[in-house]
Amino acid sequence: MRDGFVVAAPCKINIHLRVLDRRSDGFHDLESVFQTISFGDELRVESLKERFACDILMDGPVPPERNIVFKAVAAFRRAVPFEGGVRIRIEKRVPFGAGLGGGSSDAASALIALNRISGADLDDAALQAIAAELGSDVPFFIRGGTAYVEGRGERVLPIPGRADYHLVLVNPGFASDTGRAFALLDAARASASIPGSAGLSPDFVRSSILENADRWPFFNDFLPVLLRESPAYRRMIDDFTAAGALFSSLSGSGATCFGVFSSRKDAETAQSRLSASWPFVKTAVPLARAGKAVLE
Ligand code: C5P
Repeated sequence: MRDGFVVAAPCKINIHLRVLDRRSDGFHDLESVFQTISFGDELRVESLKERFACDILMDGPVPPERNIVFKAVAAFRRAVPFEGGVRIRIEKRVPFGAGLGGGSSDAASALIALNRISGADLDDAALQAIAAELGSDVPFFIRGGTAYVEGRGERVLPIPGRADYHLVLVNPGFASDTGRAFALLDAARASASIPGSAGLSPDFVRSSILENADRWPFFNDFLPVLLRESPAYRRMIDDFTAAGALFSSLSGSGATCFGVFSSRKDAETAQSRLSASWPFVKTAVPLARAGKAVLE
C-alpha cells in the first residue's frame, strides 16, 4: 500500500455544449465536448489505521459529509469491499459554481486514489460506473483529455485532442446555479424566444476541432440565455474579443467564460489586460493526454 500521495484534479472547459430537451426524469441530455485543462485542485491522500474512517479536509463553507469527495468514498466502498480508513485533504483552487467541474474532478480523482490504495484495480469503465452515481460530469473526469460526451454525461467518447492552443479563463466573481440555468433555458425555449440548436456529430467535432479556433463551429446553449440574465456575460465575451481571442464561450452553465489564443504570449497579454476588470483570470493549456497525474 502506498501512502501519502497527491492526485491532480484538473478542471474542464466545455468547448461545445448543446442541451437537448428536458427528459421525463427532469434532467436534460447533453451533447458536449469536454476538455481537461492545466488548472485545478489537488487531493492529498493518506491511509488511516481506523477501519472505515473518512476524514475530508477542505477550506470553505461545505461541511465534510456533504462534500462530493465524501460521497465518492462511500460509493467506492459500496462497489468494492474496502474497509481502509482514508484522509483526503482537498487543495481547492477552482471556484464553486464556475462551470469548470471542480467538485466533479475532485470526486473522480478520489475514486482513482481509492482504486490505488485499496488495490482493487478496477478498470476505467468500472470507475466510470461508480462516477455516474456521483454526478453528471464525474465519469468524464476518470480519463479526462478531450471527449465527446452524451446523455447526462455518462456516455464518454474520447476523441483526439490538441495541445497547441492557449486558454484564458475569466470568472466574474459570482457562482452560477446549474438548476436555474436549465430552467431559464427551458422557459426561453417554451416561449420560443430562443431557438433550438442543431446537433454536431462526433465525426464533425473530430474534424472541426483541428481547424483554427477562429473557425470553430462550437457553441454553448446556455450563453444566449445568460447574456440576457446578467450584463457580466456580455462584458466577458466582448472583453475576450477586444483582447484578440480566436474563440470565446461559456463553460458549462457558467459563470466562467474562456478565450482561445494561438500563443502563450497572446494569452498572457490578454490575461494582464483582463485582470484590470475581472477578479479571477487564469491562463491554462488543454491537457491533450487522458489520464490523471499521480504526483508523489
Ligand atoms: O448536476 P447538478 O446537481 O449541478 O444539477 C443541478 C440541476 O440541474 C439538476 O437538479 C437538474 O435540474 C439540472 N440538470 C439537468 N440536466 C443535466 C444536469 C443538471 O436538467 N444534465
